[in-house]
Amino acid sequence: MYQNITYTVEDNIGNLIINRPNSLNSLTRDALNEVLSVLDSLSKDVRVLLVAGAGEKAFAAGADIKEMSDFSPEEAMEYVKLGHKVFNAIEELPIPVIAVIQGYCLGGGLELAMACDIRIASERARFGQPEVGLGIIPGFGGTQRLPRLVGKGIALELMITGSIIDAKRAYEIGLVNHVFSPDLLLEKSYEIANILKAKSSSAISFIKDSVNQGFNISMKEALSYETRLFGLCFTKQDFREGFKAYFEKRKPNFR
Ligand code: CAA
Repeated sequence: MYQNITYTVEDNIGNLIINRPNSLNSLTRDALNEVLSVLDSLSKDVRVLLVAGAGEKAFAAGADIKEMSDFSPEEAMEYVKLGHKVFNAIEELPIPVIAVIQGYCLGGGLELAMACDIRIASERARFGQPEVGLGIIPGFGGTQRLPRLVGKGIALELMITGSIIDAKRAYEIGLVNHVFSPDLLLEKSYEIANILKAKSSSAISFIKDSVNQGFNISMKEALSYETRLFGLCFTKQDFREGFKAYFEKRKPNFR
């Protein structure tokens, strides 16, 4: 069905793979549109989404340089608007999204990973926003998401030097949540996905929503938003089950 990605679901975990290994999984318009189509039709039984790149060499080496090479300014803007649409859709999914990163995670690839909620990297992963070397800027949200994740100083340095960092440094600056040896990467990613799968899906969706909204509004508005979501929790079955399980000294069984 898809030409540039694969998408499967097993045991309530969706597995979306950018499947263009010959181009280091660079993100063409077609690939981005296919990701969007998966996100738009995600079924209710998917409780966690894993995002990865095909092969060991790259998560994704960026927006597609060949495709961009003869863009007019208007086409360039349309392209990044598509990127924004897809990455915002990932960020706004009510379920946790985990980027499973091996190899190069550069430019638009890093911007894709940053739109995910949790980033898990192989020791051999490499990260960077090398766009400055092409005379362009990170345009799929990098100038906004990178400073929010690692702070303005380090983000600016990474973007204006275009330097590539290893997984250890990415972990030190808070760009990735975990680093594992390549042979353990997938197993550990599923371990984390399975932990998330058992949590309250309504609470997770509210936490994501509150955190994401909070970045765009004042603290006062954000606390008021949090207040409303906290109240909403008390309308949910998960609240009843969570509290009941606590008092009965057992694990909650969220559905
Ligand atoms: N777009 C299109 N094709 C790409 C690509 C990209 N971003 N990155 C790699 N490829 C292709 C290469 O052209 C090559 O294809 P051919 O065999 O047809 O020539 C193939 O993938 C393998 O790549 P290399 O031979 O270059 O592999 P390498 O191991 O020698 O180097 C690399 C790996 C250092 C990652 C190098 O490929 C590279 O520098 N890639 C570009 C990275 C980059 O600049 N990314 C930012 C893109 S701009 C962007 O993302 C803008 C935005 O924010 C919206």
